[in-house]
Amino acid sequence: MSEIVKVDYGPLSKFIGVWQGDKGMDIAPEPDGTEENPYYETFTFTEGGSLKNAQSQLLAVLHYRRIVTRKRDDGVFHDETGYWLWDAREKVIIHSLSIPRAVSLLAGAHFNEVEDSEGNLNIEVSAAVDNEDWQIIQSPFMKKNARTISYLQQITIGNGKMKYLETTMLDIYGKIFKHTDQNELVLQQ
Ligand code: HEM
Repeated sequence: MSEIVKVDYGPLSKFIGVWQGDKGMDIAPEPDGTEENPYYETFTFTEGGSLKNAQSQLLAVLHYRRIVTRKRDDGVFHDETGYWLWDAREKVIIHSLSIPRAVSLLAGAHFNEVEDSEGNLNIEVSAAVDNEDWQIIQSPFMKKNARTISYLQQITIGNGKMKYLETTMLDIYGKIFKHTDQNELVLQQ
């Protein structure tokens, strides 16, 4: 990596910092139905500078860590890390994530940096097992027993606020389950 100063993070510049939110709701699969978990969480986005791939593709890099805690027992029940990348020339935004269930994915999309009338950006990235560009990697056990089929992340960010909806389609317990997570967060000073 080189050139940590003066990096053009584009839309990702709005993410840098520590975010907290306590309005989270997780809808997760159970063998006999659905589990609902109210949660709070912290996202920490740090600058990673920029890098070049194949001497031509310039990517601006943010690293993040996400810790999600169940309100019911104050136990951490989701731990996620990865990168957000911005390709300014191609206007492509990429989100790579890994969770300790042995599932990783690379979600992406073309992105036009247009703010809405309230100064927010609406960002949407997705991945799917049958998507040629943006894919999901999972262990043999997960493929067989709890397969992630697709992932969609919809974020509205601006003015120090972020809200998101994540939809993870799972093939688990003999059915297709819509695993969702949503929250609203505030950028800490
Ligand atoms: C705030 C974010 C998330 C939370 C709080 C969360 C929480 C949960 C919970 C509570 C379960 C039920 C399993 C259990 O009871 O142990 C579950 C299952 C699962 N989640 Fe998530 N999840 C989140 C995001 C994700 C994401 C982003 C992915 C993948 C892209 C994912 C993939 C899975 C898979 C594959 C399972 C099935 C495994 C199983 O139930 O044994 N989750 N999640």
